[in-house]
Amino acid sequence: METIGQQYIYDQCGDHALQEIEKMFDSVPFTKDFHSGNLTNREYYQRHLLEAVIRIGFNNDVDTYCLHKIISSHTSVARKLLDYLKEEYGHDSMIAKDLEKFGISEADILNTEPLFSTKLLIAFMYYEIDKEGALPTVIWNWFVEWYSHRYNMTITLKAEEEFGINKVRNSLSHLKIDDELTHEDDMTSALALLIQNKNDLKKAKSYLTNYIQLIGMYFQELYDSTIGASKQTSSATVPYLEDCLQSSNK
Ligand SMILES: [Fe+2]
Repeated sequence: METIGQQYIYDQCGDHALQEIEKMFDSVPFTKDFHSGNLTNREYYQRHLLEAVIRIGFNNDVDTYCLHKIISSHTSVARKLLDYLKEEYGHDSMIAKDLEKFGISEADILNTEPLFSTKLLIAFMYYEIDKEGALPTVIWNWFVEWYSHRYNMTITLKAEEEFGINKVRNSLSHLKIDDELTHEDDMTSALALLIQNKNDLKKAKSYLTNYIQLIGMYFQELYDSTIGASKQTSSATVPYLEDCLQSSNK
């Protein structure tokens, strides 16, 4: 059987993910500056953390569902997924501690409706697990770790600069823990168990394309509901102010 090495899989998936992310940077407002550490925004950053907490909870459910599907048929992949789930479990509460510093409580998190793009992402994963088994879950987890390793420290350090260390302390600890746990390497080795030929690699890249399209939708929704909404509000107040000024001049 044709086999391909772990480093090759990492490089190929990484190059593909980067290409798709660059497309997102070109088409979705604020993403390029946010990910390069040039800019941040309080409302945008808060909602981004909040959605991360919500999504991690759903991801735990998805990983558990996938485990239930593969635990007796793909034991080597199942073991890696089980270890990953065990180590990641509870990391959402670390991020939630930083949200508290922004005035967002646990009850607020529980009462927040996920963004539409998050619902689509999660529903898509369940659909693909039923159809394809472990690959859609493992490539998503790999992408999350690859993305986090590449961008989250930059995003968090910019937030520290703007909002202070108290509001990012737990996020920084989380990044340090994830790094020490070598999750990116673990997910690459799980991927190597599933990607055995060029066709499997093509399928994994196709999932990356789909996921990054959904992440692009997410960042557009995030922008529209925070920075975009504030811009609309401030431009909507201008005609009102003009009316007031005109009537005061009469
Ligand atoms: Fe984590």
